[in-house]
Amino acid sequence: MARGAFIVLEGLDRSGKSTQVAKLVDRLNQTGHKARLQKFPDRTTAIGKMIDAYLQSQAELDDRAIHLLFSANRWECAEAIKRDLANGMTIVADRYAFSGIAFSAAKGLPFTFCLNPDAGLPLPDLTLYLTVPPEVASTRGAYGVERYENLDMQTRTREQFAAVAREVQARHGEDRWVQVSAVGTIDEVEARIWELVDGALRRVDETRVGELWL
Ligand code: TMP
Ligand code: MG
Repeated sequence: MARGAFIVLEGLDRSGKSTQVAKLVDRLNQTGHKARLQKFPDRTTAIGKMIDAYLQSQAELDDRAIHLLFSANRWECAEAIKRDLANGMTIVADRYAFSGIAFSAAKGLPFTFCLNPDAGLPLPDLTLYLTVPPEVASTRGAYGVERYENLDMQTRTREQFAAVAREVQARHGEDRWVQVSAVGTIDEVEARIWELVDGALRRVDETRVGELWL
């Protein structure tokens, strides 16, 4: 049996990521694939609840401590992801380790410190990085109330995502990280994403799931 594909959508807040992830899972299931959504952070676990409290400013944590909790939150989901991929289920993740690096590095933590805890996690077959120019993002309504949802943090995170993109492409190949314009209607962006995912689905069958950064 063919394994499932591991697809990640990344992007800044208000890039339309969560809308597109939901549409992608629906479309995969409607076209004869088995697919499920995996959101990071997964706020339902014990670690996820600590992350949630931090993001809502109900708890204060050292920058390194919260970085490691975000990573631990991925590790506690890693076995289930590998098992489901092996059973032919495609996983669509809303954020992954790349957000982990970009947001923590944007706070000033060393890039290699940010990268290392996730080494060995399941390697996404394709990461789509949704981009919107700042002036477009600013027309999509006000930021929410969570930590990091401000223009200064988002601007610095955007710069770090560029470094993350280079790292993925250098270590794992150019075609693992593709930038997608999130400018346009929801349907236009969906069509762009679908074309890229369709190509990735054809490629994964013969390959094993890799290990991130290794
Ligand atoms: P969310 O809005 O997609 O639920 O993500 C919550 C915030 O957490 C968002 O600002 C990005 C940030 N984040 C990290 O700082 N590190 C991580 O590892 C992940 C997955 C998200
Ligand atoms: Mg958010």
